[in-house]
Amino acid sequence: MANSRRKLIFNIYIVFYCSAVIMPQICICSQFTSSPIDQFNKDPKAFPVATNGEIFPWHELRLPTVVIPLHYDLLIHPNLTSLDFVASEKIEVLVRDATQFIILHSKDLEILNASLQSEEDVRYKKPGENLTVLSYPAHQQIALLVPEKLRAHLRYSVAIDFQAKLADGFEGFYKSTYRTLGGETRTIAVTDFEPTEARMAFPCFDEPLFKANFSIKIRRESRHIALSNMPKVKTIELEGGLLEDHFETTVRMSTYLVAYIVCDFTSVSGTASSGVKVSIYASPDKWSQTHYALEASVKLLDFYENYFDIHYPLPKLDLVAIPDFASGAMENWGLITYRETSLLFDPKTSSTSDKLWVTEVIAHELAHQWFGNLVTMEWWNDIWLNEGFATYMELISLNITYPELQFDDSFSNTCFEVIKRDSLNSSHPISNEAKTATQIKEMFDAVSYNKGACILNMLKDFLSEETFRKGIIHYLKKFTYRNAKNDDLWHSLSNNCLEGDSTSGGFCYSDSKKTSNTLAFLRENVELKEMMATWTLQKGIPLVVVKREGRSLRLQQERFLSGVFKEDPEWGTLQERYLWHIPVTYSTSSSQAIHRHILKLKTDTVDLSEKTNWVKFNVDSNGYYIVHYEGQGWDELITLLNQNHTLLRPKDRLGLIHDAFQLVSAGRLTLDKALDLTRYLQHETSIPALLKGLEYLELFYRMVERRNISDVTENLKHYLLQYFKPVIDTQSWLDEGSVWDRMLRSTVLKLACYLNHAPCIQKATELFSQWMESSGKLNIPTDVLTIVYSVGAQTTAGWNYLLEQYELSLSGAEKNKILYALSTSKHQEKLMKLIELGMEGKVIKTQDLATLLFTTARNPKGQQLAWNFVKENWTHLLKKFELGSFPIRMIISGTTSHFSSKDELQEVELFFESLKAQGSHLDIFQIILETISKNIKWLEKNLPTLRKWLLTSI
Ligand code: BES
Ligand code: ZN
Repeated sequence: MANSRRKLIFNIYIVFYCSAVIMPQICICSQFTSSPIDQFNKDPKAFPVATNGEIFPWHELRLPTVVIPLHYDLLIHPNLTSLDFVASEKIEVLVRDATQFIILHSKDLEILNASLQSEEDVRYKKPGENLTVLSYPAHQQIALLVPEKLRAHLRYSVAIDFQAKLADGFEGFYKSTYRTLGGETRTIAVTDFEPTEARMAFPCFDEPLFKANFSIKIRRESRHIALSNMPKVKTIELEGGLLEDHFETTVRMSTYLVAYIVCDFTSVSGTASSGVKVSIYASPDKWSQTHYALEASVKLLDFYENYFDIHYPLPKLDLVAIPDFASGAMENWGLITYRETSLLFDPKTSSTSDKLWVTEVIAHELAHQWFGNLVTMEWWNDIWLNEGFATYMELISLNITYPELQFDDSFSNTCFEVIKRDSLNSSHPISNEAKTATQIKEMFDAVSYNKGACILNMLKDFLSEETFRKGIIHYLKKFTYRNAKNDDLWHSLSNNCLEGDSTSGGFCYSDSKKTSNTLAFLRENVELKEMMATWTLQKGIPLVVVKREGRSLRLQQERFLSGVFKEDPEWGTLQERYLWHIPVTYSTSSSQAIHRHILKLKTDTVDLSEKTNWVKFNVDSNGYYIVHYEGQGWDELITLLNQNHTLLRPKDRLGLIHDAFQLVSAGRLTLDKALDLTRYLQHETSIPALLKGLEYLELFYRMVERRNISDVTENLKHYLLQYFKPVIDTQSWLDEGSVWDRMLRSTVLKLACYLNHAPCIQKATELFSQWMESSGKLNIPTDVLTIVYSVGAQTTAGWNYLLEQYELSLSGAEKNKILYALSTSKHQEKLMKLIELGMEGKVIKTQDLATLLFTTARNPKGQQLAWNFVKENWTHLLKKFELGSFPIRMIISGTTSHFSSKDELQEVELFFESLKAQGSHLDIFQIILETISKNIKWLEKNLPTLRKWLLTSI
């Protein structure tokens, strides 16, 4: 009774408190039926043992919600000479239920002292009471034991002094080094916390739901500067000449977004329309490469503030190029960190695709300032709410701010990339359980990023741009400084009325003429949450099978599985209980209109109003599904492409090529039919479609080349050079034309030179010699730079010269191109030398080792070498990168997933078994094994067809 009254009072207090300060998730639901201390008293044996042998009073990976943080005061003093840091913090916490301990995250930190003050102690300046600290490293947690129970609804201040070494890797508070033009090596200290590494820098409640305000102070020497999320308010001078920078208190935010850097970088600055100061920082010698990023970030910040109708809430935004960085970039609030090649643009050596990448990464991380930072997912299982949205917003923002980059035409590839993976049984739902730090890291994958973005794009196409935008604005405003989950998003998207709108069926309508009646009708009749659950809670991608029967279309949906054929015994079981609500679209020969239908059942029928020669589903490839045309469907489309391909939209042509080859992998379409479909490509005017066809042909080429299937390799090479001769021969070796013209040039010439096409080799050799003669000063057109270097790398003199230039170059873009070129050498001792340099981490930085192993494994002469190296050096690699991290996954899949023989599969299986026995388990193992099995099956089934088709085609 007493207890329930206390709860009631607590609730009243907390309801008030919630509306202003805390997210309702924490407020309303306590996960605990009895307090943890009661549980502990009941069964102490159920609890783990701390490092000192005492019982650690908490056994779960997730922290209790009994004590929640409100504010952190952090004082950090890194020493860039001794490479360590000392620090202290004061965390103001709110105790929601009486407790005798506080559990915090802490990893590899030496806790020197911990004490506690009540609010009263603070007010009367009473010294803190010392606390006992227990440590349980397996869960990266510490427990602070208080002598007397902390009382519910009161605030306390926890003070902790701690120290640690600056980390060696790429996580937590780590050191990074760079070389100056003068050859001096300098050190900086930088943070990278997402998802679970803030705990390596300071003891904290390191879960996204525990948002708090942070007041940060950093001590530094006068030769350095310090940067953090917020602007500096003041600097005070300490005894001995040390300086202490005080930063403004942050807005309410999650720990993974906290950041600080001590460095000697220089910057360029500009101002966004709203007055926010935007700065780009890089090491002093790279200052000249920062200008493009400044222009792009100001433009994109203006765009997002306007698009979301929400101001970027901080007074400044810094974007910093970090010399050692594990991933591409990290969206820390107000202090975004980037790998140098994701931020810097050097007009002399950065190509079109480099420019596209830099712009894309800036657009992505800026989008996170709203999606992720302002509104954060409750837990990592829904990381797609961050990453899927940021990836999708790249499309929305770049279409408007940089139409000349023609980003819209690359987006289909974002979806095609994940379809490969999502059509394996080992895929996972977008929202997926994640508990351990490794599982959480693994959530940052193509399913969260790409599939997340693709289903959002499909939803936008279904709801209309206007409704979608209103919905997300509603979502962002409603959950500002708080956390959200899937259902919150669906709710906002279906109840998104803004002033002046009328409502119907739970949706809002403005006067937009764009909204067609059918669309309005469909929207009114759909339960959004139910529909989207089929895309987020269920793994995989649907296949829509279309059959034309007179004037009607029979539609059927099933789960699309590549590598498993309908006649295989497991096919039936793998289909069970899969059903999507698919918003399908189609166009027909008789009208340009986009027809819409929602396929909610396994089978359905649609009536066509007129007789048509052909139908094409999935208009503009906006839907996340694959389409198969039964009966004459594919033949009709092939005829259409050959007769007049422009009757179909460019993205529909692109989609047809993609789907056809996917259906081959699923055993639903014969390879010769898909290849026949590509014959029209000689007349294709849309470059993305042309490149897609070429990509599949190159993929097959590389597969047969690796396996030494020499007759097919030779014939395919001959076919490619003959068939694409008109495209190859008309390419100039200049940086000219549109983005896609330039992409076509890079791709086509790279392939031509790879296939030893004499004119290509000759031109590249000529340019390479001129470049060497000019001592590397000659400017080679950036889009052909990789090609010229790769051809140059085939001689020993060229290779050695490139390696020298690699060391000297100050352009990350150029270094990447050189490293790629070096890894295409046919000499194994050279490839081995590269890998050794990568392991050493001096000339070739450790951050580039994963890409190096990947590109070496792509080289037929390097595949075995790279794979053996990974097997033999796995423990070394795990010392450099965390299990589950991007680089580790890239290394393991980059060196294995191209395999296509049973022996190779067995080798990989054995290796994975041995890793599992050592305690390393990754979801990606299963994905790789399935991919290799799929490759084996593909070759078994399709090699004879390919061989035959080539004989009739050349
Ligand atoms: N939030 C991520 C960074 C990240 C990645 C943190 C993996 C933890 C684990 C960041 O926003 C991101 O997505 N970066 C991408 C680049 C982006 C343009 C796709 C990356 O690092 O590759
Ligand atoms: Zn991201």
